[in-house]
Amino acid sequence: MKVKIIEKIDTMRRLRRRLVEPVGFVPTMGYLHEGHLSLVRVAREENTSVVVSIFVNPTQFGPQEDLTSYPRNTKRDLELLAKETVDVVFIPEASEMYPGSYSTWVEVDRLTQRLEGASRPSHFKGVTTVVAKLFNIIQPTQAYFGQKDAQQIAVIKRMVADLNMNLKIVTAPTVREPDGLAMSSRNSYLNPQERQAAVVLYQALCLAQQLWSQGEKNAPRICQEMINLIQKQPLASIDYISVADAETLNELDTISSPALVSLAVGIGKTRLIDNIVLQ
Ligand code: PAJ
Repeated sequence: MKVKIIEKIDTMRRLRRRLVEPVGFVPTMGYLHEGHLSLVRVAREENTSVVVSIFVNPTQFGPQEDLTSYPRNTKRDLELLAKETVDVVFIPEASEMYPGSYSTWVEVDRLTQRLEGASRPSHFKGVTTVVAKLFNIIQPTQAYFGQKDAQQIAVIKRMVADLNMNLKIVTAPTVREPDGLAMSSRNSYLNPQERQAAVVLYQALCLAQQLWSQGEKNAPRICQEMINLIQKQPLASIDYISVADAETLNELDTISSPALVSLAVGIGKTRLIDNIVLQ
């Protein structure tokens, strides 16, 4: 079946009625890489129909953030998705998703106040709002999210449970470059020197994993070792390093598994995030 490319919400709704259940859904902001495609492949395996959305959601970017420079290449994205035998690509305009009269927001408390939420205050409000809208439009049986954005998964699971949304959230592992750097559309901002430096995020996570495996259960000590490692990299500036309960995201003093080790680090002007779960 040829992939259908849909821009209008009405058309998407009409087409949805004809899709054979179960319907798997992969929301993205485009500029697709193997991380996104891994989600599409899991969705393909587990569902009869697969819908992918491409929408650079303006409401999840802060005023000083990279909305206008966010990388876009729709033609290439559509070619990649055609190869994955996706049924529908939903690719709405911002004016279709947020008309001038738009006034409704979905906000998850507490979980969104820490980590990414502390550094990017309105980010998750934009994410939960757009994801709720996309779930309403596409009405998937299951939706697929990458472990790369661990807090996003926790927040979306909370929203789905709290608002009694009738779908299952499925998580897929982080896909990495050969040197360990987590794939991200924002990696395209890095110059060759920064690209080399960016591996320090993964090295810090591996160090945490190694210390924990050797019996270190004290979270502040693990964080300090990670800080020491990252500070040796002159292009890196730490935003946060956290060892938290994987579900509540409450910071841990003594590590009980599963613990989420996550970090946000600036490499030059580019802010990158990554995480691992100790278990
Ligand atoms: P985006 O950054 O495009 O990511 C889309 C999905 O791909 C997310 O679930 C993300 O966690 C996953 N992903 C990104 N890099 C990955 C990697 N290296 N390995 C595995 N999965 C990876 O996340 C968003 O868009 C937006 O916030 C969105 C949910 C679409 C709402 O606008």
